[in-house]
This record gives sequence, C-alpha cells and structure tokens, in this order.
Amino acid sequence: MVIRHIGQLLTMAGGVGAEFTASADAAVWIADGRVRYAGPESGLPLEADGFVVDAGGRLATPGLVDAHTHLLYAGQRAQEVALRAKGASYLEMLEAGGGILATVSATTAASDEDVLAATRRRLEEALRAGTTTLELKTGYGLTPTAELRLLGLAEVLRAEGPQRLVLTFLGAHALPPSHRGDAERFLAEMAAVHPALVGRADFVDIFLEPGVFQAAAADDYLARAQQQGLALKVHVDELQDGGGAAVAARRGAVSADHCAYTSPAGIAALKAAGTVAVLLPGTAGYLHPEHMAPARQFLDQGVPVAIASDGNPGSSPTSCLGTLLPWAAAWLHLTPDEVWTAVTRGGAAALGRGDVGQLAPGAWGDLVVWDTDDYRVPCHRYGTNLVQAVYVGGQRVAPRCR
Ligand code: NIG
Ligand code: FE
Repeated sequence: MVIRHIGQLLTMAGGVGAEFTASADAAVWIADGRVRYAGPESGLPLEADGFVVDAGGRLATPGLVDAHTHLLYAGQRAQEVALRAKGASYLEMLEAGGGILATVSATTAASDEDVLAATRRRLEEALRAGTTTLELKTGYGLTPTAELRLLGLAEVLRAEGPQRLVLTFLGAHALPPSHRGDAERFLAEMAAVHPALVGRADFVDIFLEPGVFQAAAADDYLARAQQQGLALKVHVDELQDGGGAAVAARRGAVSADHCAYTSPAGIAALKAAGTVAVLLPGTAGYLHPEHMAPARQFLDQGVPVAIASDGNPGSSPTSCLGTLLPWAAAWLHLTPDEVWTAVTRGGAAALGRGDVGQLAPGAWGDLVVWDTDDYRVPCHRYGTNLVQAVYVGGQRVAPRCR
C-alpha cells in the first residue's frame, strides 16, 4: 500500500535521542508488511504501487510501542478509588489482601475464555488509541501453575494479533498469603519454572520494591533467570528508592521500569549498563502525583528513555498509551519531540526490538494517522482520542469496517 498526502510524517528513523525531524508532504510505501519508503512524496520510488490511501494532509507516525503493561487479568478494582480517597496507600491495600492480590483472586476464579475476552477488549482499546506493539505481563496468578496458565493465554493472544505482543513472565509480582514471611521459598518455587519459559516468554520481571521483594532476593531471582538465557526487565523504585536500578544494571536488564525514585547513582548505573529507563507517568500521576520520575536527569545522563502505560487494574487503569502523551509531556517536563521518541523508538529499545517504533526501510509497516496536521497536538490535547486510522504491517486494523 501507499499512503500519500501526509501533512507531517515522523519516521523516528534517527534513533533514540537523535535530532528530531518531521517532514511535510510525505508518503509511505509498505510492501509485504514492511516499509519500503518513508519520506517526501516527491521521492516516492516509481515502482511504488498497491492500494493508495490519501491521508488528507494529516500527521502520520509509527504505531506506538507500549513497553510495559499488565493487561492480562479479570475483574476490576474500582472499589479502591474511595479507599484511596480515605488515605489508604497502594501497599496498605496490598498488605490487606487487596490490590494485586484482589486481581489474582478474580483472575484465578475466571475461566480462560473470560480472561481472554476481557483482555481482548483492552487490546482493542489500546489499538484504537494507536498502540501497535505492546508488552503483556503475567503476574495475576502467583503460583507456578497459575502463572504458566497466564503465559499460555498470552500466547493465544499473541497468535491472534493484530498487535505485536511481547510476553513477560512476572510470576514474582507480589508475595501471596500462602508464603507470608517467606519470600525466599516463594522465589525459589517461581524460579524453578524458568527453564519452562525458554522459547515462550521474552522477558522475566520482578517487582523489586521495599515491602514487596528486596534487592538481594530479587538479584538472586534474576540471576536464576539469566542462567536460563532469559532476558530481564525489573520493576524498580516505584514507591521509594530500593536500590533496584543498581540491581537491574548489574544483571544487564534490558529495561528498568518506573524509576520514580531512582537516585543519581542509580541513573549512572543504568547509563553504564545501557539499560533503558521505562517511565510510567500514568502510574505516578495516579499514585503519587507530587513525585515524578526525574526524566530530565535520565535524558541529560544519556540513558535511553521509554514511556509506557503500565496499564493495569490498580495503579494505572488504562489500556491507552496514546491518551497519556499530554501527561507525559506536562508531568515529566518533556518536549513533544522527547515524548514521541520515548513512545516509539524508546519503547522498541525497551523491548529489544529494532523492527518497530520507526518508519524506516525494513521496519514493520505499523503506522498511525492522527486527526491533526501537527505532531505537537497529541502531546497537548488530552481526554480525546485523536487517532484517525491504525495500520499494522500495512493492513488497516482500526477503526474496523463493520
Ligand atoms: O507496575 N508494581 C507492580 N505492579 C503494577 C501494579 C499492578 C496492580 O496494582 O495490579 C505496577 O504499578
Ligand atoms: Fe508495572
């Protein structure tokens, strides 16, 4: 297919942190699912052919890459809104058997079909808001069997498409009541599953946070995953500085996620390790709006930055990274150029993927056309979905024709 009359095209082909450029009067040619050309319309190769779409002068960008989600679950936690208003903290609700544990109960009680159907609805929401690649974590099972069940369901969704899914095993998401006071035994049991993840899960993750899993135990757990050749992501410093960034760096994790309270030493460790910092402003805004990740420090130190939704039923109840762009800009004090880089190339880097997040020859033809002609507008107007059309591999996938 060929998309013509693009008013502004962001190819993001310059890389994370590269000088940001937008070209006007542009076109994109996609063949066999991959980009063959993206740039000024005047440079469109003569042999470009196929179905022609007129973008009507609108903005076109790579599909968004949401590198951190927990969208695989059943039930919902709206009862937490009032509890939080009365002063309950995130970890207090978890300790009282709510929070993550409430979603574990709901997910365990639900049939496979119900978990799949609920997750499909969320993936569809994400797609309509421009997300074409996303990470999906397990983590609402918390027994080896239940976590493997969720991994199996994630594989079903990955095979269905249309989005590209990257799967992360988060068996170490919280300590279940059955193992209270014995995190070591819990993590040993969960680590015993790692050999079975090879070839199935793309990453192993753990919620490293004081009050959940401590740095030393998490380090050990991650080392066990590494012994199996599994790539790593780590939840770090979400609610306080628990030394997680240093652990992620030491283990060569592909990404360290949240990083809301990461210290300058932690930032330096991530830089030295080449670990991507995945910032989750939706979560920080929802749980502690008074404290945001030090995004500027990460950028100044040259740490690659991604911004993701953290979509989950508790701390960031959304499926739509696309609707978070204004908050990423406002709360993290980022320019539109920096936000776009973080939700495309940055997200791809956090997933270890070079084939998405950019419209360069050879990359997948995953593209969003927005109802504006100015790339700054999706980082400015909030509460409305500006997506006009979404393409994955050159196929239009949203809105669907009914
Ligand atoms: O990234 N931190 C742990 N996990 C999620 C929240 C999951 C939940 O509350 O259900 C997070 O914030
Ligand atoms: Fe998370």
